[in-house]
Amino acid sequence: EARLQGRSVVSLKDWSPSEIKQVLMTAKWMKTNPKVAEIQYALKGKSVAMIFELPSTRTRVSFQVAIQALGAAPVILDWQDSQLGRGEPIEDTARVLSRYVDGMIVRAKSHQMVQALQKWATVPVFNALTDMAHPFQVLADALTIWEHVGYLSGAKMAYVGDGNNMANSYMIIGAKLGMHVNIACPEAWQPSADIIAYAQQEAEMTGGSIQVMTDPVQAVRGVDVVATDVFVSMGDVDSASKRQALAPYQVNAALMQHAKENAIFLHCLPAHRGEEVTEEVLEGPQSVVFDEAENRLHVQKSVLYHTLAEF
Ligand code: CP
Ligand code: NVA
Repeated sequence: EARLQGRSVVSLKDWSPSEIKQVLMTAKWMKTNPKVAEIQYALKGKSVAMIFELPSTRTRVSFQVAIQALGAAPVILDWQDSQLGRGEPIEDTARVLSRYVDGMIVRAKSHQMVQALQKWATVPVFNALTDMAHPFQVLADALTIWEHVGYLSGAKMAYVGDGNNMANSYMIIGAKLGMHVNIACPEAWQPSADIIAYAQQEAEMTGGSIQVMTDPVQAVRGVDVVATDVFVSMGDVDSASKRQALAPYQVNAALMQHAKENAIFLHCLPAHRGEEVTEEVLEGPQSVVFDEAENRLHVQKSVLYHTLAEF
């Protein structure tokens, strides 16, 4: 267990398959045993900063509740309200905050910003979403797949839509966990080539596979899990041409027909009904999006516990 102590989560690239599995197992245990003293006092006397450059509902609340549930105090910092909003360098902010708090959770427009924060901080840094990655979301999604499909290694999933932070993160966690991940995106909106290459290489070691394609029907055929995300992410330029390119990637009942009969539907939320997903699918019996949202809390408690508690 001690090997996770003091570690950051900027990208799940930095974590091994067994480390990810350990976090998921602890999350499952915490979900069923929320009141044990070992959890409630694990971070007693500690403080964790939460820095948000972009809006958030789930991440902000679930991290704050997770920190409190472990006995620590959250310190919430709005980007615009802090000196970061007036241009204080991240290098200085990282070193100053490291003198006060035991960990930092950050949601930022640019991935490089979070990498720089980690470089200069002397406490663990946790990525609460960047343009490149959303690691805690896909940890929650993995727990949800484990619960509903029953297993992770060998599970088949399709992500259909924009080749964004979620697509990148599904490829990485899927590869690490031996899953078969199909990604269907329009030609012009494919995930980043270096993350595809990284994930494919990683999948070779776990028996998983990563395939990137343009046909949503081909991607969804026979899978256990169908996932999508918004057409236009925070910080993206909203363009008619992008929406037009993504329109054929809507997850609707006709597309779900190609997946396994008992396939589950995932969406990190917030969802846009009638755009990337229909009301029928989002509110239908295959949708487990609120279990998925709940699982943010449990995986985040688990990661904070493993990285920040003193054993
Ligand atoms: N899924 C997710 O990260 O939601 P928020 O933007 O509300 O935090
Ligand atoms: N891809 C979305 C996810 C929101 C939780 C975004 O970056 O805005």
